[in-house]
Amino acid sequence: MKGLKTFYICTECEYKSAKWLGKCPSCGAWNAFVEDVQEVAPAATAPKRVSMIPSLGDNHAVGFTDLEIPDYMRRTTGLGELDRVLGGGLVHGSVVLLSGEPGIGKSTLLMQICDSLGESRRVLYVSGEESGGQLKLRAKRLGVVGNSLFILTESNIESILKEVDKIKPDVIIVDSIQTIYSASVNSAPGSTTQVKETALSFINKAKSDGISVIMVGHVNKEGSIAGPKVLEHMVDAVLYFEGERQQAYRIIRAIKNRYGSTNEIGVFEMTDKGLIEVDNPSQMLLAGRPKNISGNCAVCTIEGTRPIIAEIQALVTPTAFPAPRRTTNGIDYNRMCLIIAVLEKRLGLKFYQNDVYLNVIGGMRLDEPATDVALAMALISSMTDRIIPDDLIAIGELGLAGECRSVSNLEQRIKEAERLGFKHAIVPYRNIEKRKIETESINIIPIRGIYEVLNMMKESN
Ligand code: TYD
Ligand code: MG
Repeated sequence: MKGLKTFYICTECEYKSAKWLGKCPSCGAWNAFVEDVQEVAPAATAPKRVSMIPSLGDNHAVGFTDLEIPDYMRRTTGLGELDRVLGGGLVHGSVVLLSGEPGIGKSTLLMQICDSLGESRRVLYVSGEESGGQLKLRAKRLGVVGNSLFILTESNIESILKEVDKIKPDVIIVDSIQTIYSASVNSAPGSTTQVKETALSFINKAKSDGISVIMVGHVNKEGSIAGPKVLEHMVDAVLYFEGERQQAYRIIRAIKNRYGSTNEIGVFEMTDKGLIEVDNPSQMLLAGRPKNISGNCAVCTIEGTRPIIAEIQALVTPTAFPAPRRTTNGIDYNRMCLIIAVLEKRLGLKFYQNDVYLNVIGGMRLDEPATDVALAMALISSMTDRIIPDDLIAIGELGLAGECRSVSNLEQRIKEAERLGFKHAIVPYRNIEKRKIETESINIIPIRGIYEVLNMMKESN
């Protein structure tokens, strides 16, 4: 006897509950439960799950030394920045999840790459969100010709797969996975079960027919891919498309990639002709830097293989609250707390009487310890109202004793700073203790500890 059972499922960790819960007992997420319906059948006659992730081998163990390193075939997307994040292009038969907030530019990006992807073979764009006419209008604006592009405005996975068999595309773009549903699953489109089931169908198709699939996944307010965090485990690569909607800059970042590094980022600018690659992100991030203002410090971080110069801004103001406020944007909160504690203890600065606001310009995220010295300098500068010269860049990690520790790739960072016209670079003494750095136009200032930076700032007037 079949029946329908309603239950609630956590969109973060898939914990199931018979009742709606405000907080997930398994992963602790708030407001993450959504209603789902499942067909229940007696155990003996329960249908076997249709969709499973396909097996990658033939169920026999193989000697490790007999294995060969596969030579992945890749096709270019036509956008160097995106190729870089993918590890050199879109791998044949791979499944990529592109996620980001609504309106950030996912559909725009995917439409833009259709011409390049379809250069030799066919691309099928499955849209569950926009009509063919809307897509054509956008394509026209973006200058996409679409000679080998096919548009399918359909949400039913069974019909989609039929069309796929007919058209035999090389690449399928699914916009978005949350709008696709399977008639064999008894829950609403966008629910965890549906998303998982339809994504599995696409993955199966990709692996069996060697088709590359790019799926769009919308991200909800909390930053997780709505519903299916589970998708991240199933696909080969997860790309996040981020940026402030009010600003033109967009950063694409791989948070998982089976075919490349996850450190690389791609930088784009949204214009009226779609997304344009930014070859020189440092220059973009430094454009419009305020001059002669305390609290600003330039820093160089390595993103994948590229050094990128960013700007840290700190604002330290006397607090009106019993517990001072601390907010960060682009910097880890705990890292900020640690640096503040070091400055309080080692330099005697009274941050506990002040609110602290930190920001990294252009939506960049700095998660490398090599940015510590610049962060500390921005804090000291705002706290003491002393200005850091605009042509000074600070590189170095801070230890708990306030000592400046060595960093990796120092030469690469200095070269980038030199290229952008910086004249002074604060670097860890330990880095150059044994090996001097060859420089042309930049003055190297080695420091042993954070207390040495005070005399490099000038009083504001
Ligand atoms: P879209 O790709 O539809 O976002 P998503 O698919 O992630 O929801 O693009 C959203 C925004 O981009 C939209 O507000 C308009 C803007 N946009 C441009 O600025 N220039 C363009 O050429 C296009 C196509 C869109
Ligand atoms: Mg869209």
